[in-house]
Amino acid sequence: MKRLPIILAAGKGTRMRSRLPKVLHPIGGKPMLQHVVDACESIATEQVVVIYGHGGEEVQAGIKGQNIDWVLQAEQNGTGHAVAQAIELIGDEDYVIIANGDVPLIRQETLENLANGLDDAELCVLTTLLDNPTGYGRIVRENGQVNCIVEEKDATDEIRQIKEINTGFIAARGQSLKNWLNQLSPENAQGEYYLTDCIGLAVAEGKKVAAVLCDDSSEVEGVNNHVQQAAIERSYQRRQLEALMMNGVTMFDPARVDIRGQLTTGQDVVLDVNTVFIGSVTLGDNVTIESGCVLKDCNIASDVIIKANSILEDTIVGSECDIGPFARLRPGTVLKDKAKIGNFVETKKAVIGEGSKVNHLSYIGDTSMGDDVNIGAGTITCNYDGANKHQTIIGDKVFVGSCSQLVAPVTVGEGATIGAGSTISKDAPEGELTLSRAKQVTIKGWNRPVKRSK
Ligand code: UD1
Ligand code: CA
Repeated sequence: MKRLPIILAAGKGTRMRSRLPKVLHPIGGKPMLQHVVDACESIATEQVVVIYGHGGEEVQAGIKGQNIDWVLQAEQNGTGHAVAQAIELIGDEDYVIIANGDVPLIRQETLENLANGLDDAELCVLTTLLDNPTGYGRIVRENGQVNCIVEEKDATDEIRQIKEINTGFIAARGQSLKNWLNQLSPENAQGEYYLTDCIGLAVAEGKKVAAVLCDDSSEVEGVNNHVQQAAIERSYQRRQLEALMMNGVTMFDPARVDIRGQLTTGQDVVLDVNTVFIGSVTLGDNVTIESGCVLKDCNIASDVIIKANSILEDTIVGSECDIGPFARLRPGTVLKDKAKIGNFVETKKAVIGEGSKVNHLSYIGDTSMGDDVNIGAGTITCNYDGANKHQTIIGDKVFVGSCSQLVAPVTVGEGATIGAGSTISKDAPEGELTLSRAKQVTIKGWNRPVKRSK
């Protein structure tokens, strides 16, 4: 039996009031349609069909998938019309699983339960119970059996009281589904072809209709506006963070930690408030991230502390490093074990050797630094001549005095000392003191200017 997911994603999403097509708006840093595609791919036997329309090429370009069959719905005439665009791709024996592109938190297990519902039914609807069911299609039952779905706009007051709603996820056997799609008509309040009318048609034919109830309604809530998007974002974050906490991570307030990508953690990791993880971030054992830090695509080894308000991007950090507060490690930074980066230090494409220290107010870019180096406060690598970038090479055990400028390309030999306040534009030899400094003079008897009287 083939499982064929069809994802509906052609709608405009008017209520988002945005230029960006609705299904590309992110949840956890990933387009909401991508969440649905990923969940559907996990249960599909072959391809996943995505019905697209509004925002056409932008939607296609924004979504990655192993095996997506894109089907255009040029005019959006309703959910039934949308599925009908893919009718040629539906085999008689297929288990078709229809998903909404604007319901991003759907889980693989839930989709599996829905598909399995077809083993002894012709159609299976995923429902949930909502305290406030306004706006959703209501599940009308007779003697406990699903009888039909009535959309909010077509419902009587009595039907509007029903709290069991259609989540939009519907599974059906291929042959019957194609039959029903051909019978849909737009005679309803919205003048649209409703997919949900298939339920009434199935019941009229005496076909068995099953329903699977989803206990966690947050999993099947849709996004139609930014208020719902924010609510779903919080649900998504809670889901991820609870898994991390169950895995041993300490968080002082999980409402103030955000993961927009994949965070992998070792043992005894502590995350303070307002910490944000973007892309792929790995934290080793015994890592503490203090408040206000942002880490994007980083690999942090064990026993590391990243102090408050530090920003790290595309950075590899060895074990026992100490970073921040207020450090900015830009792409291509590599800290070897036991390195230390202090406050107001910026690094870029820089290797900082084992045990080396850059403690205060420095810029280190396009640099290869050896072990046990000490960089004095205010040291700058002048890596850019206005046209090209150049390398600075600093040997092991170098000591650079405060407020020095290393004008690249330049090499400071192993064990060299640079006097404070030097501008080093030629290579400094190993083991020697090099400095460039005007002689200090004192002007005897010099008087400060005084204010002229008017
Ligand atoms: C739909 C269901 C409703 C259900 C709700 C769950 C119908 C008639 N109603 O209502 O029972 O409770 O979802 O969220 O099915 N789409 C297209 N082409 C179209 C119309 C819609 O691709 O012509 C897509 C939209 O992009 C969206 C999905 O189908 O991803 C649902 O459409 P939407 O207009 O949001 O339906 P609802 O009114 O929410
Ligand atoms: Ca919707």
